[in-house]
Amino acid sequence: MADTAQAQVAAEQAAPEQVVSFQTVPNVATPAQLSSDPERLLFAYWVPNVSGGLVTSKIPQRTAWDLKSNLRYAQTAEKAGFEYALTQIRFTASYGAANQHESVSFSQALLQGTEKLKVIAAILPGPWNPAVAAKQIASIDHYSEGRIAVNIVSGWFKGEFTAIGEWWLDHAERYRRSKEFMQCLRGIWTAPDEEGFTFAGDFYRFRNYRLGPKPVQQPHPEIFQGGNSDDARNNGAEVSDWYFMNGNDLEGFRTQIEDVKARAAKVGREDKVRFAVNGFVIIRDTEAEAIEVLQEIQGKADVEAVNAFRNEVKNAGASTNNKTGMWATSTFNDLVQYNDGFKTKLIGTKEQVAERIVLLKSLGVNLVLTAFLHYEEEIEQFGKTVLPLVRELESQGRGKDAAVEIEHSGAVYKKQVPAPKA
Ligand SMILES: Cc1cc2nc3c(=O)[nH]c(=O)nc-3n(C[C@H](O)[C@H](O)[C@H](O)COP(=O)(O)O)c2cc1C
Repeated sequence: MADTAQAQVAAEQAAPEQVVSFQTVPNVATPAQLSSDPERLLFAYWVPNVSGGLVTSKIPQRTAWDLKSNLRYAQTAEKAGFEYALTQIRFTASYGAANQHESVSFSQALLQGTEKLKVIAAILPGPWNPAVAAKQIASIDHYSEGRIAVNIVSGWFKGEFTAIGEWWLDHAERYRRSKEFMQCLRGIWTAPDEEGFTFAGDFYRFRNYRLGPKPVQQPHPEIFQGGNSDDARNNGAEVSDWYFMNGNDLEGFRTQIEDVKARAAKVGREDKVRFAVNGFVIIRDTEAEAIEVLQEIQGKADVEAVNAFRNEVKNAGASTNNKTGMWATSTFNDLVQYNDGFKTKLIGTKEQVAERIVLLKSLGVNLVLTAFLHYEEEIEQFGKTVLPLVRELESQGRGKDAAVEIEHSGAVYKKQVPAPKA
C-alpha cells in the first residue's frame, strides 16, 4: 500500500511538464501546508513605516503607518505565508512621506508582536556606523530568536544628508563606504573570540573588537542591499547575501541577474548571492479592473511630490559613472510607485499574477517584495488567493524553465499598459 502511494508520488514528481489549468487548481491548500520546500519562492512586503502609503497619489489608501496598524499587517502577513517584511529608512520628508518612523526600532517592535516573520531593517551608512549597527542587530537577533535581517542602503537623497549634517559623498564613494560597512558587519558578527575583529579601511577602523553576544543566526543575520548602478551591482556580487532590484520588465530583470551573477563568479561568490525584486500588486476579478485601479492611482498622482522625487533621483542616477543608476529610465507614471513597482506588472487577476510570479522565479528570482494600495485588506487577499496558486504551480514543477514561463505569460511585458485617462 505504502509502495503504491510512493510510486504515485514519484510519478507525479517525474511529470513536471504537464500543462496547468487554473480551473483544475484547487484553491484550498493553506500557505503553511505548501511552504516547506526550501527551493520555494519567498515573499516579503514593504512595511509602511512612513506616512502616505506606497504610492505618491491622492487616491484614497487604506494603509496606515502607525505601529498598531503595522502590527496587524505583520501578524496577517505571517499567517498568510509571507516570510519577510522590509522596513524603510528616511530621516526627513520626501515624495510626500511627511512622517517616518525609524527603521531599526520599528523592526524590533514588529518582531515583538510576531512569531515567524523575519523583519529586514533598513540601515543607512553615514548616520549609522557599523559598530552601532552590529551591536543593535545582534541584540535584536537575541530578542527575536533569530528573525532580524538588514538592508544596507546607500542613499540617493542629498537634502536628507545635508539636513542632518551628514557628508554627501559622490555615488561611487557612498557605495565604497557601504561596501566597507557590510564587510565590517560580517566581520564583527563572525570574528573568532580570541582575536576579535580588526579592520583598517578608508571609512571604518576596528582593532581586536570582540562583540558579545554574537548573533543567534549562523553565520550571521542576512545582509540585503540594492540598486541598479555598477556600484550597487558590485556590492551585490561581492559583499551582500541578497541583491534587491527595483521594479522592472522581463529583460531588465534578466540582464541584471545575469550581470550580477557574472560579477559574483569573478570573486568566487556565484552561489552566495540571492535575488529579490520589487512589484506593486493589484489583484481584481478581471485584468481590466486591475488596470483601471492602476490608471486611477497614476491619474490622481501627487504631481508636485512625484516631480520633486523625480528631480532628486534623476540627479542621483545621473551621477553614476555610466548613468545607469536606478530610476535612470523611469517615467513620471513609473515613479508614482517610488521603487518602480508597476513595471513588474503584478497587476491583473490572481491567476495572471501567479503566472507572472513563477516567470520571475524561472529567471532566478528568489524573493518577491510586494506592496499594496490597501494594506488593510490586500495582504490577506494576496495570501489567500495568489500565494496558494504560486505554491500549487511550484509543486507542479513550474517556475524552473524560463522558456516555458515566457511562453505562458511573457507577452505581458511586451504590451504597453494604456496611458492614464485624461
Ligand atoms: C528594495 C529597495 C529598498 C530600498 N530602501 C531604501 C530605504 O529604505 N532608504 C533609502 O534611503 N534608500 C533605499 N533604497 C535605495 C538604495 O539604497 C539606493 O540608494 C538606490 O537603489 C540607488 O541605486 P543606484 O545605485 O542604482 O543609483 C532601496 C532600494 C531598493 C531596491
